[in-house]
Amino acid sequence: MSVDATGEKILVTAALPYANGPLHLGHLAGAYIPADVYVRYQRQKGADVLFICGSDEHGVPITIRADREGVTPQEIVDRYHAVMADSFRRMAIHFDNYSRTSLPLHHRISQEFFLNLHRKGFIREEMVRQFYCAPCRRFLPDRYIEGECPLCHEAGARGDQCEACGRWLEPELLIAPKCKVCGASPELRSTRHWYFALSRFQESLERWQASKPEWKSNVREFCSGWFKEGLTDRPITRDIDWGVPVPLPGAEGKVLYVWFDAPIGYISSSVEWAEKQGQPERWRDYWMDPATRLVHFIGKDNIVFHAIVWPAALMAHGDYVLPAQIPANEFLNIEGRKISTSRNWAIWVDDYLEVFPPDPLRYYFEVNAPENKDADFTWKDFQARNNGDLADVLGNLVNRCLSFIEKHFEARVPPAGTLQPADRELLDAVGRAPAAIGAALDQFQVRRAVTELMDLARAGNKYFNDAAPWAELKKDRERCATILNTTLQLQLALSALMEPFMPQSAEKLRLMLGRPASLVGEPWGGIGGRTLADGQPLGPREILFHKIEDPIIAEQAAKLGT
Ligand code: MF3
Ligand code: ZN
Repeated sequence: MSVDATGEKILVTAALPYANGPLHLGHLAGAYIPADVYVRYQRQKGADVLFICGSDEHGVPITIRADREGVTPQEIVDRYHAVMADSFRRMAIHFDNYSRTSLPLHHRISQEFFLNLHRKGFIREEMVRQFYCAPCRRFLPDRYIEGECPLCHEAGARGDQCEACGRWLEPELLIAPKCKVCGASPELRSTRHWYFALSRFQESLERWQASKPEWKSNVREFCSGWFKEGLTDRPITRDIDWGVPVPLPGAEGKVLYVWFDAPIGYISSSVEWAEKQGQPERWRDYWMDPATRLVHFIGKDNIVFHAIVWPAALMAHGDYVLPAQIPANEFLNIEGRKISTSRNWAIWVDDYLEVFPPDPLRYYFEVNAPENKDADFTWKDFQARNNGDLADVLGNLVNRCLSFIEKHFEARVPPAGTLQPADRELLDAVGRAPAAIGAALDQFQVRRAVTELMDLARAGNKYFNDAAPWAELKKDRERCATILNTTLQLQLALSALMEPFMPQSAEKLRLMLGRPASLVGEPWGGIGGRTLADGQPLGPREILFHKIEDPIIAEQAAKLGT
């Protein structure tokens, strides 16, 4: 967190994943890889970035899993919090802090947030009628109620949504509703809840969003739909026993709705980070400085909460910055079908990492990011990207050049000598790349950015083939040296430009070039100057990307849906 050259202070968050199962590829593609790429790039550019995430440990997704397994919700979140944190780490998705919302710290901060809004008159109480299951002796959350869909008449529709026709529902609309746990017919009973006065923020929200023409169209269109319908006040409490207790007298047995407390997790995770730094007030430098750019990376199913409800809560609170950007990605399908964890139509990050290193998958999701429409992961495509772009283009260029130098130039950087137009042309392309890649990343276009990177590698390959150093070796050793030197300068630039996208391979490449693994002190803007000195020894050579054979892919593909 150095003080930067550009002066930009950026607070980046990635949606807190529910700790109700391991991480799968859908998670990675939507929020986490794009966020990590963006953060790494901004840091290289010299920005002061705080990158925050954590597990979302409340809500019905957790209790449903706990009920199904006959264990406590705490056991579920303890298990999956650890599993997810480990998967992130192994994918080189590097948060400054990965917190969890079951921490007392988070409960306290959420309760203070709630009370702040309550004091200001933005939270009111109301009696409502809700389904109660007598045998289970509890009010049923929407997802605990099942029945016939009133619209498509399919059985098994949930109280909040019918999976068959995809429409949103209210539990009262279901035909013959049943408790999902015990099967009994629930009855409507009165219960007390607290509502957030969202309707009062419609004007401010609309005005605020009008000042954000640079937001992605999926976010803006989604919001204008909500604005058109008119915002209504939202209940922010629930009758369950797992969550943040409502901090008011007479609210026993009530907790905050998970979508109220979860985004506050961004704040509590920042507070935890500051405490771990031994500078407990440091989080305020980000959350309370109007110059901070707050950026929320999310999947499209989270748009309403991040672009409407949460900003309204922040406006009501008043002490914190509002989001500057909400890059929301579309969904990832697998082999042409919607991900379904219950049908095992999913690929688990842990399973992937047992067989492959992280970078090919990072690259795959960078080049196929679901930025403007849903993307489809197929094992065949994955293999083709790895074997083609990574192994044949990038890896092969590195390997051919370095092994040639080992053999004929004692594994030292051959002298640059006198440049010819073709050399200059390649170095010019190198010189243009940081700005082109950076401009794309500044606009959250990871796909375009990584394509620029690969185009540069391709240009390097073409240059190397056309210049044919092997043909010059006997004829004109000086010319041969210049070609190799130029190709090395390109590789050094690639190793820095690759850092946001494929950090482990970038580091590997730098070591092969005889450079320190770390990029500290080598800012993005400086990439492309000739910095490998004549005669500098190269490091030990390794294969940068291994090809993946067909049987390995077939084995992975066979696991789907079983
Ligand atoms: N847990 C939610 C999900 O997986 C995301 C929560 S994002 C936060 O859809 F802002 F609430 F933290
Ligand atoms: Zn029941």
